[in-house]
Amino acid sequence: MKIAIASDHGGTNIKNEIVALLKELKLDFEDFGCNCETSVDYPDYALPVAKKVAAGEFDRGILICGTGIGMSIAANKVKGIRCALVHDTFSARATREHNDTNMLSMGERVIGAGLARDIVKIWLATEFEGGRHANRVGKITNYEC
Ligand code: RB5
Repeated sequence: MKIAIASDHGGTNIKNEIVALLKELKLDFEDFGCNCETSVDYPDYALPVAKKVAAGEFDRGILICGTGIGMSIAANKVKGIRCALVHDTFSARATREHNDTNMLSMGERVIGAGLARDIVKIWLATEFEGGRHANRVGKITNYEC
């Protein structure tokens, strides 16, 4: 599994924690920034990552900003992206099982690094259930077309 990760200035600390986690898990990933503390615009980081996931260059994308909201809104504008804003482990599992999300967004001003690590581990490990959920996700895909 190839993973793309990015944050704005509001999410760099948790991004660094997740980058460390991905290394621990020996997963293939690329860090698309930002690696700065100066203010940047979250769409400049969310959209390139979302486009790469939608194009199949990466299997999954992980985004972090202050709230996770701006990143998720931007990512979900890209056709083929299903990005979930997640701040609890139940939703991390459910959004993979039910929504087949290919992107995850979190807010550094909302949760701590320990919970963010657990969310990412669960989200990466959980399979899509398919079945009736595939029918529902298919309706979203059809709407995009
Ligand atoms: C940046 O101040 C903040 O607006 C951004 O990180 C994010 O929370 C936007 O949704």
